[in-house]
Amino acid sequence: LVNRVQDHVQSRTVYYLMNIHVTPRAIYLTRHGESQHNLQGRIGGDSGLSPRGKQFALALASFIESQNIQELKVWTSHMKRTIQTAEALHVSYEQWKALNEIDAGVCEEMSYEEIQAYHPEEFALRDQDKYRYRYPKGESYEDLVQRLEPVIMELERQENVLVICHQAVMRCLLAYFLDKSAEELPYLKCPLHTVLKLTPVAYGCQVESIFLNVEAVNTHRERPQNVDVTREPEEALGTVPPHY
Ligand code: F6P
Repeated sequence: LVNRVQDHVQSRTVYYLMNIHVTPRAIYLTRHGESQHNLQGRIGGDSGLSPRGKQFALALASFIESQNIQELKVWTSHMKRTIQTAEALHVSYEQWKALNEIDAGVCEEMSYEEIQAYHPEEFALRDQDKYRYRYPKGESYEDLVQRLEPVIMELERQENVLVICHQAVMRCLLAYFLDKSAEELPYLKCPLHTVLKLTPVAYGCQVESIFLNVEAVNTHRERPQNVDVTREPEEALGTVPPHY
């Protein structure tokens, strides 16, 4: 029963409460299969899947079938790598632009090594405050959280959903469901070829991590110890995961 709702915060609260439900269901979060850019350690772009990425898409199809899920909704971003992953499932899916990967602006399609070489100061500033740092002509994690708000609201309304998304996007969604802080969010581990099954329980979410047994490159770069703009390149690049 809604009565005398007065300001913005109250109306947003009512809107939120009207969208949530307690029906048992599962939310499956995964990234796309390994992409050509992942292999080369490049961020962003719109490359297609690598041979192992295509294998993951097939493994995901068998996994989803084995779960025997009733009325599963499948969501992807507008990017080729998530769409190619969803295609292997042979079910209908919905594409959300809001699920696109973080826009790295002037650093799009560069490797972390190239960002250090061409924009060393930007690279250090991002390490200083990864949640709030906004790439020049691009986005921050904070921006991404805002962009994902309608997706989160719709996830609250829906029952069983599989979201095929990207590293930064998956971190934001996970942080919402697991109640992680802005400091932890950009460093949450969301490896490729791994499905996280979230089952809402009273006051939280149960998480199951399922690796689908298809090898993939690691794309997770830890925060280096030295985040000063005057640091040496080796100090900035020490935590970059190996790639081809
Ligand atoms: O490297 C894969 C990727 O999805 C990039 O497209 C994206 O810029 C990056 O991960 C986000 O991760 P981080 O914020 O740790 O750089």
